[in-house]
Amino acid sequence: MRRITERLGGLAFGGDYNPEQWDEQVWKEDDLLMRQAGVNLATVGVFSWALLEPQQGRFDFAWLDAHLDRLHANGVAVDLATPTASPPPWFTLAHPDAMPVTADGTRLTHGSRDTYCLAAPGYRQAARRIAAALAERYGAHPAVAMWHVHNEYATVCYCEHAAAAFRDWLRARYGTLDALNAAWGTAFWSQRYGAWEQVLPPRATQWHHNPGHTLDYRRFWSDEALAAYREQRDAIRDHSALPVTTNLMLPGYQVLDLWKFGAEVDFVGIDHYPDAPGIDAAADTAFGADRARSFGGGKPWLLIEQGTNTVYSPSGTLPKEPGDILRHSLGHIGRGSEGALFFQWRQSRAGAELWHSAIVPHAGPDTRIFREAAATGAAVAGLGELAGSRVHAEVAVLHDADVWWALDTRGLPQVDYHAALRRAHRALWDAGVTADFAHPEHDLSRYRLVVAPSLYLLSDAGAASLRRYVEGGGTLLVQHFSGAVDGSHQARLGGYPGPLREVLGLRVEEYRPLGAGELLTLSDGSSVEGWSELLRAEGAEVVATYTSGVMDRQPALTRHRFGGGTGWYASTRLDDAGYAALIGRVLGESGADPVLAGLPAGVEAVRRSSPDGGSRSWLFLLNHGTEPVEVAVQGYDLLTAVDVGPAGLTLPARGAAVLRQG
Ligand code: GAL
Repeated sequence: MRRITERLGGLAFGGDYNPEQWDEQVWKEDDLLMRQAGVNLATVGVFSWALLEPQQGRFDFAWLDAHLDRLHANGVAVDLATPTASPPPWFTLAHPDAMPVTADGTRLTHGSRDTYCLAAPGYRQAARRIAAALAERYGAHPAVAMWHVHNEYATVCYCEHAAAAFRDWLRARYGTLDALNAAWGTAFWSQRYGAWEQVLPPRATQWHHNPGHTLDYRRFWSDEALAAYREQRDAIRDHSALPVTTNLMLPGYQVLDLWKFGAEVDFVGIDHYPDAPGIDAAADTAFGADRARSFGGGKPWLLIEQGTNTVYSPSGTLPKEPGDILRHSLGHIGRGSEGALFFQWRQSRAGAELWHSAIVPHAGPDTRIFREAAATGAAVAGLGELAGSRVHAEVAVLHDADVWWALDTRGLPQVDYHAALRRAHRALWDAGVTADFAHPEHDLSRYRLVVAPSLYLLSDAGAASLRRYVEGGGTLLVQHFSGAVDGSHQARLGGYPGPLREVLGLRVEEYRPLGAGELLTLSDGSSVEGWSELLRAEGAEVVATYTSGVMDRQPALTRHRFGGGTGWYASTRLDDAGYAALIGRVLGESGADPVLAGLPAGVEAVRRSSPDGGSRSWLFLLNHGTEPVEVAVQGYDLLTAVDVGPAGLTLPARGAAVLRQG
């Protein structure tokens, strides 16, 4: 990424560019408007397979040559994509066996995108071939600054190719069928496998699947996607030394183990589309950005896609509010993104996404959207000195794909892991504290506070890591339904949360999910819903008890000194005020500070620091509210080129500032 920002002379600004959908007159206007908008990086070729390889093995690069030359002449660098997320129709007819099969046995066909089986040899070979051909042709093209493999790996398949690859993966993992039978607990419901050929993907069946089976299938599929990514990456590396990455999907999708992808990409790239308007969009932006920063384990990262004007809410597509284009872009950049890219440059006239937003909307450049996007481009251009700077967090929220997949199993008591992660992050965001995400097995010692929302599955290695963390002086907050099963999805015996009992000084003997609308009260005045647990303190101090129902007088919140640190346990889902108070208390006890104390609600502060240990830093202030706000800070505002002195700063309604300090 450093090489990219050096080459761009600062942060990246631009987006997906699909010139093949337009004609020469529009290309000329694109050149002009890209200059006006400050575009310096365009993602090209994401969905161009049918044009690049109109027939199997026959390539046509002339049209792309012309666009890359034009972009280069116009001062726009290219993020060149491999088009493998959308195979052309000829591919389907040549490789019918490479079309994906759903869990209920339906084989899909072309007509949309993402229609391929990642495990099909025909697909993998074709993907490698087009990636290699592109890299060979454009590896030395002066426009190309980076490689973008595929688009949002997501399709899951249950076909025979997938079944064969799954069995290979299982053989490598377990060695013997006996070990597999033991791990999956196949003694239950007479599921014992007597030959490898009997093992299938978890296809449609009569009732609940075996949870070990479904968990392993999701692990396998993520590994298969990673293998497909690696093959393309390596094919590119044979011809080019430029950085290679892929664009990872929104926070709500969990097909991939993003920690593993983070280890294999040269830098992390994400797409992010908020799922609610207003302040929730801002919080969701921070959630997506903090995840992206974390998955690379210290690598730089880049926002590869966002909408200019769209919020994809569960009730439908909603417009963003004025000022959101700038504040959402800065929301990502403040949390470490080395730029802000959009999907897409020009809104399509035809095709499945003709109503998805763009920098140049259907109405053209004389629009609020284009003006705001161009103003954002100018703002990003003024932030070049931030390239390479880092975000430092004292708090981490634990995030483990295995937990997500394990909780996403039919037949379990319902706990929504994604919602639990967002809630924990949101409470920290509301408290003004910057949070990383971390895997339970990581070294957590640099964090003052670690929050573990519903760590349902906890491996032995994860438990040992959390124990070391608390022993070493850390503050750990573990939330309900944690440590319930081991890495094979087998119940922890003798009381939950299994191997964390000693650290937390307690023993949970019974989970008591609450019915819809059922509220219990606690002695600290909060009310709780959804979940309760019958637990015994075994050394822990009881901080709050249940005060209603059959749980009356039983411990609800506990705190336990262990080694040099403290283990907190919340056995239930507190209401918002109660959860905020708990987060406030553990933050205070751990010594983790907000970025800027005393900010009114709706004003976000986040800091990037120079890599030399922070001799210089940049404070991002984002006012998501509709009233101007006075903030007692000093520094040089890169957005307005104004020195903010001792009188402080007036942050306009829906406005932003980026103050250089030090
Ligand atoms: C992204 C995807 C793009 C486009 C966009 C629409 O998730 O990568 O190709 O579909 O959504 O907003």
